[in-house]
Amino acid sequence: MEIRNNKPTLFEKSTCNIWTDPYIQQQMLKEHLNPVSDGASRKQESILRITDFILSHTKPGNRLLDLGCGPGLYATLFKDKGYDVTGIDFNKASIEYGAGKRKDIAYIWGDYIKEYPDGKYDTVIMIYCDLGTHSDSDRDRLLKNIYHSLDDNGIFIFDVFTEELVKDKQEGKSWDYVPNGGFWSQEEYLLLSQTFHYPENNAFSYQYNLLTKDETKHFIVWDRYYTEEEITLILQNIGFRKVTIHKNVLGGNDFTSDSEMFIVAEK
Ligand SMILES: C[S@@+](CC[C@H](N)C(=O)[O-])C[C@H]1O[C@@H](n2cnc3c(N)ncnc32)[C@H](O)[C@@H]1O
Repeated sequence: MEIRNNKPTLFEKSTCNIWTDPYIQQQMLKEHLNPVSDGASRKQESILRITDFILSHTKPGNRLLDLGCGPGLYATLFKDKGYDVTGIDFNKASIEYGAGKRKDIAYIWGDYIKEYPDGKYDTVIMIYCDLGTHSDSDRDRLLKNIYHSLDDNGIFIFDVFTEELVKDKQEGKSWDYVPNGGFWSQEEYLLLSQTFHYPENNAFSYQYNLLTKDETKHFIVWDRYYTEEEITLILQNIGFRKVTIHKNVLGGNDFTSDSEMFIVAEK
């Protein structure tokens, strides 16, 4: 048994991934489909608000690419509004679910960092702070691909965590014993969860060691947070001509909204 107890190096990648692990991806799909959970997707009420926000910046008929589309909660709403929708995700369970529900949406099972979809789009979206889960170098590679896939005047709409995230997270560790299986494994397991802060790099890592009877799995998840100035500069350096920040998309009462901002970047 090998337990990783050290602080990961900045943007270190783990051998296992919470979105592609054969068992955990099924649990993620259940979370996506729970309309009152903010787990894998935001709750339904927030999804509708965010969709309205995106609709107010785009037009029916737009070619829209949803990066990290999950089971298509947004894709379906945009298709119903007359958009031409493509969604990509590397969670096979989610893509199979989405494609099984709607034949009129182009679903791609793939990794948008390694195999960015071909084609030109009027709008690219990436929702639920997914940009911040990638290293700075993967982020820049992705942003360049997004920029080049947009037609002139196309827009990229996404959300990221702000520095307020620091108030919600604390470094620490905990052990959980789950005797009859649960989110992480269908059999008895022990989970070591650790949170580490990288204040000089505006990032947190969450490290998980999952111990079952037969194996130990190791997962690292990253959350990179941004100031308005930093994310604006990053997008301008990629070539986006206009960047606007929106901090009240979810309304003041939503418990997740204080630490998140939405960004509209225009080519
Ligand atoms: C937090 S979930 C958000 C899902 C969806 N955007 C929503 O808000 O309902 C992040 C999604 O991005 C997907 N994802 C993360 N990294 C990815 C990558 N490199 N390529 C494709 N999909 C990725 C995950 O599988 C997951 O479905």
